[in-house]
Amino acid sequence: MLPDWAVVTADRRAHIERVAGLLAQWATALAVPATEAERWRRAAWLHDALRDAPAATELDHGPMCADRLARDGERDQGVLDAVRYHSVGYAGWDGVGRMLYLADYLEPGRRFDATLRTALRDRMPEEHGAVLREVARRRIEWILRSSWGLKPETVAFWNALGSA
Ligand SMILES: [Fe+2]
Repeated sequence: MLPDWAVVTADRRAHIERVAGLLAQWATALAVPATEAERWRRAAWLHDALRDAPAATELDHGPMCADRLARDGERDQGVLDAVRYHSVGYAGWDGVGRMLYLADYLEPGRRFDATLRTALRDRMPEEHGAVLREVARRRIEWILRSSWGLKPETVAFWNALGSA
């Protein structure tokens, strides 16, 4: 569930619940151990916990939240990295970071490119490696079309996927 310091709107909370729901579904389908499913659940509930805080931006709400979690005693580096880098990608992720990145993009409440998202979601979780490359490619294309630059973490993430 959300920590008591979370700052989220009702819409954000609904998004977080859908991300958690998708991850729970994938964990069941892949029969991952209960401890791993619990990490995915934690990452889902925590990743956007500060997204609507007054000082938060699209790019820094993940790091702000990871810093807060680390201060509060979170010791699971995979969960911290999943939260910290969920907006940009990270080459050093383990399963929890990769699955959160996928669920955050593919959750059914997002309206943009809904048909394509549905098609990608239908290939999950069995084809998670191929779908991850497709999601990363689409997110990077979006950044390239915008006026933002690519973060070094995003470039390293993409290059690691290409050689995987
Ligand atoms: Fe999210």
